[in-house]
Amino acid sequence: MERDKEILVMKDIVKTFPGVKALKGVDLNVKYGEIHALMGENGAGKSTLMKCLIGIHPPTSGQIYFEGNLIENYSTSDALKMGIAMIHQELSPVEHRSIMENIWLGREPKTKLGLVDHKKMYEMTKDVLKLIDFNEDPKTLVASLTVANMQMIEIAKALSYNAKLIIMDEPTSALTNKEIEQLFSIMRRLRENGKSIIYISHKLDEIYEICDRITVYRDGQYIGDGDTKDINVNELIKMMVGREVNEMFPKVTCDIGDVKLEVKNLCYGRKFKDVSFDVKKGEILGIAGLVGAGRTEVIETIFGIREKSSGQIYVDGNEVRIKTPADAKQNKMALLTEDRRSTGIFPMLTVFQNVIIANIQKYIKKTGLLNHKKAIEDTNEFVKAISIKTPSIYQKVENLSGGNQQKVLVARWLLTNPEILFLDEPTRGIDVGAKAEIHRLITNLAGQGKSIIMVSSELPEVMGMSDRIVIMHEGKVTGILDNTKDLTQEEIMRYATGQAATA
Ligand SMILES: Nc1ncnc2c1ncn2[C@@H]1O[C@H](COP(=O)(O)OP(=O)(O)OP(=O)(O)O)[C@@H](O)[C@H]1O
Ligand SMILES: [Mg+2]
Repeated sequence: MERDKEILVMKDIVKTFPGVKALKGVDLNVKYGEIHALMGENGAGKSTLMKCLIGIHPPTSGQIYFEGNLIENYSTSDALKMGIAMIHQELSPVEHRSIMENIWLGREPKTKLGLVDHKKMYEMTKDVLKLIDFNEDPKTLVASLTVANMQMIEIAKALSYNAKLIIMDEPTSALTNKEIEQLFSIMRRLRENGKSIIYISHKLDEIYEICDRITVYRDGQYIGDGDTKDINVNELIKMMVGREVNEMFPKVTCDIGDVKLEVKNLCYGRKFKDVSFDVKKGEILGIAGLVGAGRTEVIETIFGIREKSSGQIYVDGNEVRIKTPADAKQNKMALLTEDRRSTGIFPMLTVFQNVIIANIQKYIKKTGLLNHKKAIEDTNEFVKAISIKTPSIYQKVENLSGGNQQKVLVARWLLTNPEILFLDEPTRGIDVGAKAEIHRLITNLAGQGKSIIMVSSELPEVMGMSDRIVIMHEGKVTGILDNTKDLTQEEIMRYATGQAATA
């Protein structure tokens, strides 16, 4: 293996879907032993290019050379055998099976009698897990693992195929900071062993921390590549978006009115205890904390997805009973969930259907029929307002890029015209340009007197947007701070890690 040589060359790759030219002739060169970032806005074509590479769908035209050889007409299992593995955006382990069964599924070692050799499989699994310092028992059921550990199993599986090139599509979007560090140290070790990694992420700090080189795409076109050290952040953003994005967090101070929502001593089992805060009209309230602090659970409880064990909720000063999300909607609340795949998006339905689904009532005429025209108009308006990239509103949502699916959900909830809007990680998986658009939208809503409660793990986002910040640590509110100029990330982290508490 020679480090400066290319393991992968993709040339002039075109990929068309009905009505969409997703890739318009793009290139990618990846060297042995490097971590190579693919960057670009939502819908730029990153995931599609990788799906072409691993044989999920063959390119419409173009050439792929792997280790110097032209490769054509191959399936995903052929790709694996050649040494190309992908850790998908959506993991799909067989949950009711053990770690070892997941790794060797379909190619289990056999005894002389042709039965599965469990003892051998156990040892083989121990060996691959050792490669990534993963100490779980091979017999552990995959269902009991965290997302981070399921990813580790996927990486182990890739190594079990002796993969030389591993693709990771937004692997850190559901990981804690500590888990991300673990993943990075494994990636560094793989690089030392001469493996190549293609890394997709919208988190710029990660790219600068871990990647050696970057290739940028925009609208299905190749824009450029280079060593990470030679491209500064502003240049990179400009390459991705095609313009400069200066206003990431357009904080405009708007009039803050009376208290809209108040929660008092809210408890939910052992997940969180005595949570109290209020949010005013026109206010953006950030909720910060580490993953697992109970932030999502708190807003889900207020919204009626979970039933509180005790505590009170007041809207406009009156106590309200919220037992189901329908009750919450009655009280003019809306919730954008963090886990869009399991609780939000209907992949088989169209953009149009996904957007209006929470708003059907609004479009039912006195005659009982749906006012299609108005619903279509509104959907088109939102698609435009937040730049959802889709050939039409009748496209199935599963065919949209990950970030654009998230935007569809944003549109759905904005259309309900809520007075209290809960946003759980609203910009996860969303590119820098669209992020700025969503931030602007949130700020506008606050300007119209809406109350916004936003959970975000990205401190710059919380600090850039919020008027006040509630900080949680292990199910308790440790502080409610005014977001003044002097507030630092370190200060918030002291509360989030339980080293400081005022509340
Ligand atoms: N199966 C499909 N059918 C139709 N269009 C598709 C299909 N898969 C992808 N596309 C379209 O191809 C384009 C590129 O999508 P892709 O998922 O590759 O973007 P991406 O760069 O990975 O974006 P993100 O950062 O949001 O994940 C998008 O316009 C998308 O709607
Ligand atoms: Mg993608």
